[in-house]
Amino acid sequence: MSDNVVMTAMNYDSDRPPASNPVKIMDLSLRDGHQCLFATRGRTEDMIPVAELLDEVGFWALETWGGATFDTMHRFLNEDPWERLRTLKRYAKKTPFSMLLRAQNLVGYRNYADDVAVAFVDRAAENGMDIFRTFDALNDYRNFETVVKQIKKSGKHFQGCMCYTLTEPRLGGEVYNLDYYIGKAKELVDMGADSICIKDMAGMSAPYDIYAMVKALKAVVTIPIHLHSHFTSGMAPMTQLKAIEAGIDIVDTCMTPYAYRSSHPAVEPLVMSLLGTNRDTGFDIRKLAEINEILERDVMPKYKHLLDDSKVSIIDINVLLHQTPGGMLSNLVNQLREMDSLHRINDVYKELPRVRRDLGQIPLVTPTSQIVGVQTVNNVLHDTPDERYKMITGQVKDLCYGLYGKTAVPIDTEVQKKALKGYPRGETPITCRPAEVLEPELEKAKAEIGDLAVDMDDLLIYTQFPVTGKKFLEWKYGRSEVPASVKPITMEFVKKQDALVKKALAGELVERKSETPAKSERVRTFNVFLDNEYFSVEVDPTGESPVISAPRMVAAPASAPAAAPKAAPAAAAPPPAAPEAHGTRMLAPMPGMIIKYLKNVGDAVTKGEAVLVLEAMKMENALVAPCDGVVKGIKFKSGDTVAKGAVLCVIE
Ligand code: CO
Repeated sequence: MSDNVVMTAMNYDSDRPPASNPVKIMDLSLRDGHQCLFATRGRTEDMIPVAELLDEVGFWALETWGGATFDTMHRFLNEDPWERLRTLKRYAKKTPFSMLLRAQNLVGYRNYADDVAVAFVDRAAENGMDIFRTFDALNDYRNFETVVKQIKKSGKHFQGCMCYTLTEPRLGGEVYNLDYYIGKAKELVDMGADSICIKDMAGMSAPYDIYAMVKALKAVVTIPIHLHSHFTSGMAPMTQLKAIEAGIDIVDTCMTPYAYRSSHPAVEPLVMSLLGTNRDTGFDIRKLAEINEILERDVMPKYKHLLDDSKVSIIDINVLLHQTPGGMLSNLVNQLREMDSLHRINDVYKELPRVRRDLGQIPLVTPTSQIVGVQTVNNVLHDTPDERYKMITGQVKDLCYGLYGKTAVPIDTEVQKKALKGYPRGETPITCRPAEVLEPELEKAKAEIGDLAVDMDDLLIYTQFPVTGKKFLEWKYGRSEVPASVKPITMEFVKKQDALVKKALAGELVERKSETPAKSERVRTFNVFLDNEYFSVEVDPTGESPVISAPRMVAAPASAPAAAPKAAPAAAAPPPAAPEAHGTRMLAPMPGMIIKYLKNVGDAVTKGEAVLVLEAMKMENALVAPCDGVVKGIKFKSGDTVAKGAVLCVIE
């Protein structure tokens, strides 16, 4: 046992003598836990049954909000994000709440103007948020300035994050070494941080690296140090223990059902490991067991279909091999799979460090992990031997312009020049604090959305998520019908499904063939065109996975070629859904959501001119005209989800 951890008494009861320096613990189950394991689909109604019990444990804080929850709640769950915060506060009254704030990116994916940032922090504090765990994907703390001023003004706790990233297998190298992090910690102290978080989003922190770092930090800063380390690579529990030996103040854990895989270490083994030491948490393990039982019995069955059980192993050693977050890797795999290009995964692994270096060796965390990931896939799929960066995403252009902040090392000048060619804000990158070049946004947003946004909370949903936010507000105020795909599933539904699966496995499902099953509320109608005949077909999804994504257009048949936006008209017979015999069809190069058409029917376009913006994997891609002509046959509108190969328009 280390000299820093001293055994005092071995006593199982919760009234055991208090430790001299108990480790404080933040529970992440209600935010990062389900964000990692269940695609952030946790619903408020499934948090309420354990909220009061969690409040009784003695956690330093409960992480309940921020990160991706704001996005998924309004987009996929038909839940008002602000309402969740207020509701949970009514059940957990004692323990402070913590949120993950992406600094000037707030809870979205780009830097917002200062007026939006101030309003957002103000409203979050007013709605009940106590601790603002703040990070910037580039560790550029100029992006903290506006939100920190408002956090302090609201009288709340400012926790400053250092995004932990590596370029080598272990801490060190030219960029991300111990000096780098010590320097960052001092910057945070100077900004008035109330605590510092080592934010290891990829689970790359090795036990002895963190031991050395915590020791070094403790020697130069006096505010509490907090470790956030994902389990992904399997090192996190060991890292946590070494951090505790080095004197860390606070660590993050999840309740067991929300722990491990790409999530966090579980709380229960840690409590037992520290029992009777001078760092004993003092937690009552039986209370934790009670929470687990409720989660296992009443909550988890509704989410198990979202758990990625494609692998038996709960550890992802790719993280150790590629120094990239597990979530990012699974996004890449999904993206490739959707484009029928999974066989290119090794090319992607090879290209990824090159793209990262080209883009300034940036940390890989939301949104930079998506920026690097999507650009990498674009390069692998669209580049030719004589041209790299053929299809540059809007976000990479913004990064090259300086809109995200200062990169750890300079961006490759060739890539930067190419990205900024014709960039609307200008071809010379900025060096100032990014938000300084952003015009105020709230007034403009208010004018756009009108009285559909009733208050500031509504307006902040719309400002950060103009397309899906507007859809949500229409559901919220009864202006459009709430689709079945965003409605919750019930335990009865899960039980019925489980029974069916059991029967199917036992080969007893034959008997059901004679009955016509009742239509569920998830039934959807499709128009099917065969030559000149037309059928209306009702489809009711069955099996294990309820539809959770927005309804997809059945656009092009599976036989449609995988064409890049610049591809010539498909040589194959035109799909039945696209009767246009003439002209060049612009096909969706990847599945995604239409952000907007930049051209209308009848507009003339020249080859290479942007026609529409398609969002895929949260990145916006401007798709350009493959030839000169006039735009025709636009079948989609802003907010529509399209499949790969869907005919976006015809240019004739
Ligand atoms: Co995390």
